[in-house]
Amino acid sequence: MINKLIAILFFSIIISACNNQSGYEYMPNMYRSPSLETYSTNTYFKDSINARLPVEGTIARNYLSTFYFDGDLEGYLQSGKFAKNPLEINEKNLKEGEALYGMFCSHCHGPEGNGGGSIGHPIYSNIPHYNDKKQIRRTGKTMSELKAGHIFHSITYGVNAMGPHSSQLSEDERWKLVMHVQKLQKLE
Ligand code: HEC
Repeated sequence: MINKLIAILFFSIIISACNNQSGYEYMPNMYRSPSLETYSTNTYFKDSINARLPVEGTIARNYLSTFYFDGDLEGYLQSGKFAKNPLEINEKNLKEGEALYGMFCSHCHGPEGNGGGSIGHPIYSNIPHYNDKKQIRRTGKTMSELKAGHIFHSITYGVNAMGPHSSQLSEDERWKLVMHVQKLQKLE
């Protein structure tokens, strides 16, 4: 008797395995995720826009920044107060700063930072010397008193006739330039 029961059970398992029902899917969204066209609309999100903004605070790859100051005057003053050069001041960094200065700055500021660059445009004619001790700047102080954070901010966002350089120079490169400008600030 028991053998018959086992045989029936065995065959019913075999037969039930032969139907073509696919069975249950756990978490079907994982198998069948909604496929949305980036720039079309849908009923999936409440605002129906498919191109979602990144989560607040998202940092793009290779853009991890230590510099959080805005491009306005407030950001400039804050930067002067709080931004510190994260790089070590050594021969190698100073040399690289000098080389970058030759490529990106000296045509306007002059090799010695005295404003005597090769660009003789009327707008650019009034570039103050980095060591200037008379002309009062945005900080309420002179060029020679600009702090590392002011210089970094100016390179990053630009100021008046000087354009922003953040797309041409990495943060490290900009901090190396700051080192070189600080050297020029001390020239007599
Ligand atoms: C197109 C010409 C031009 C180039 C290129 C240029 N600058 Fe300037 N820069 C100026 C002018 C003009 C000013 C003065 C702007 C003003 O005060 O109206 C200035 C001002 C500055 C200041 C003073 C900003 C302040 O806070 O008062 C610094 C520092 C400076 N430049 C650094 C640099 C460095 C470093 C580079 C190279 C990465 C560079 N500049 C490239 C034209 C230029």
